[in-house]
Amino acid sequence: MQNTPSRTAQHVALFRALESVRRGPRLFVDPYAVSCLGPGFRLGVAIARFPGAARFLERRIDRHWPAGPRASAVVRTRLIDDLVEEALARGARQLVLLGAGYDSRAFRLDGARTAVVFEVDHPATQAVKRELAGAWAARAGRADDTVRFVPVDLMRQDLGEVLCEAGLGGDRAVVVWEGVTNYLDAPSVHTTLTALAATLAPGSRIVFTYMDRRALDGSGDFDGVAAWADTVRAAGEPFTFGFLPDELPGYLAERGLTLTLDRSAREAAARYLEPLGRHEPAAPFYRIAQAEVK
Ligand SMILES: C[S@@+](CC[C@H](N)C(=O)[O-])C[C@H]1O[C@@H](n2cnc3c(N)ncnc32)[C@H](O)[C@@H]1O
Repeated sequence: MQNTPSRTAQHVALFRALESVRRGPRLFVDPYAVSCLGPGFRLGVAIARFPGAARFLERRIDRHWPAGPRASAVVRTRLIDDLVEEALARGARQLVLLGAGYDSRAFRLDGARTAVVFEVDHPATQAVKRELAGAWAARAGRADDTVRFVPVDLMRQDLGEVLCEAGLGGDRAVVVWEGVTNYLDAPSVHTTLTALAATLAPGSRIVFTYMDRRALDGSGDFDGVAAWADTVRAAGEPFTFGFLPDELPGYLAERGLTLTLDRSAREAAARYLEPLGRHEPAAPFYRIAQAEVK
């Protein structure tokens, strides 16, 4: 990743902001997302507040990127929200947002209020987030010192050491690694998961997303990958890594982790969007998984 703030993190914040201003049924409200956006995207969200405009903009986005990065992002966010709330309700005391971007869970989720939160990200993106976080904390009524900012380049640094230095304790934790693995390489994904398995207390959970490798190497029968891949490449953050879903349970087991959930964004859309009468494209090759530390 270049030494500039992540542009794909802005794309995801835009999708969350659009979801949040919908007038019809929505998956979540993220009141912080809009504040992360540049002027062009902010204008889009302002327009989306007019009746019918959000749906119009969403349809335009979905037509241009038919594999469904927008709906994939919002369903993954909702599914991960539910998984994080569940882990916190079951006793996790620490929340680690890995590659946090403009994730606002520290301020947005009820269960996160009493957890110690570690915002871990590449320093270039984190610098922008830190400027926003004071206002977010004030709005959420959250004490600043319960959110710790930990800069790290996952391609270069050992996450285990960094987290221990930042004060990660022995309590159970839930880690969110959302929208990140596909921008890394195999050694850094391996090193990160190995460090998490070695550092986190047993019973801790790691919720992460990944791309089906067959969408990246062209061996899968998936539509619409190229338009999505072209956009992230143009943003300077090309897709570089994926797993084969079949190999994931064994891969994690070798690292002391048990796979407890693995679902495509399309399946998550069937669970969250279809019951609301929302028939929006979400990718079968974009996946949300959860692993537990043995
Ligand atoms: C698509 S954004 C996702 C952000 C956030 N997790 C979300 O879902 O809104 C990708 C994130 O990965 C982070 N990232 C990419 N490469 C990284 C690296 N080498 N080390 C640490 N973070 C990295 C970026 O800074 C960015 O925050």
